[in-house]
Amino acid sequence: MTTMNICWFITILLLLHSCNPGDGMDHGIVGGHVSVPHSRPYMVYIQDSRSKAACDGFLVREDFVMTAAHCKKSTLKVYLGVSDTTLLPHGIEVDSFPHPGFENKPGNDIMLLKLKTPATLNKTVTIIDLPNPWNDKMFKDCLVMGWGSMVYKHYSPSTVLRELNVTLKNLAHCFEPDVICNEDPFGPAQGDSGGPLVCKDIVMGIVSFNLEKTEGYLTGYTRISQHLLWINEIMKKNNI
Ligand SMILES: *[C@@H]1O[C@H](CO)[C@@H](O)[C@H](O)[C@H]1NC(C)=O
Ligand SMILES: *[C@@H]1O[C@H](CO)[C@@H](O)[C@H](O)[C@H]1NC(C)=O
Repeated sequence: MTTMNICWFITILLLLHSCNPGDGMDHGIVGGHVSVPHSRPYMVYIQDSRSKAACDGFLVREDFVMTAAHCKKSTLKVYLGVSDTTLLPHGIEVDSFPHPGFENKPGNDIMLLKLKTPATLNKTVTIIDLPNPWNDKMFKDCLVMGWGSMVYKHYSPSTVLRELNVTLKNLAHCFEPDVICNEDPFGPAQGDSGGPLVCKDIVMGIVSFNLEKTEGYLTGYTRISQHLLWINEIMKKNNI
């Protein structure tokens, strides 16, 4: 078994664990601080209307939200312009487009959600830019955010958005080219899945999995720049 397979195996274990109703999906930001309300207007709260399991995502076009493929459920709704999840606006129904190779590989943990009613952009609802193949490795100082757990291994979602600065290290030593890894004492946890890794106002990664290490946690993010062709194909085929 390669390192990649072991890693993916652990991710799947986390997923099975999180399939109990009422439990959140895989992976708050541990060690983060509360974001200024509405300062991250591209953030999207995602909830399964049946199980109430929650994930995060971000708006990439008026009619498309990007998130992690392991967040797929048949009755997902997306909530735009949210700061406090106890005050949710009207949810929008979606059609899901998980990456077809998701089951086989951690780097394919990416999904597009087509909004049945496109968003009307305003001060609290905006789009975030995707990376280019050439600016992908330029940034190290990034921000990760979510409404997930504030403590590791204990489902304790935050009702307000939290964020954490992270410095990317060891980019070359990851499981495979389409995963960005970072090791930190703190970071995303259960309920943060699908949220963005934002570097210089560009979204570089999607929160996918974490692994416990001796000095903190290793977080794996799906590397968006490796999927630009697939993203463009889905978005072109499903124009507004
Ligand atoms: C922006 O749009 C959101 C979602 O459609 C809506 O809830 C919010 O009230 C709007 N804000 C403004 C300032 O118009
Ligand atoms: C996070 O990083 C930004 C940009 O580098 C910086 O302005 C901000 O002060 C940092 N926040 C914290 C809490 O370190």
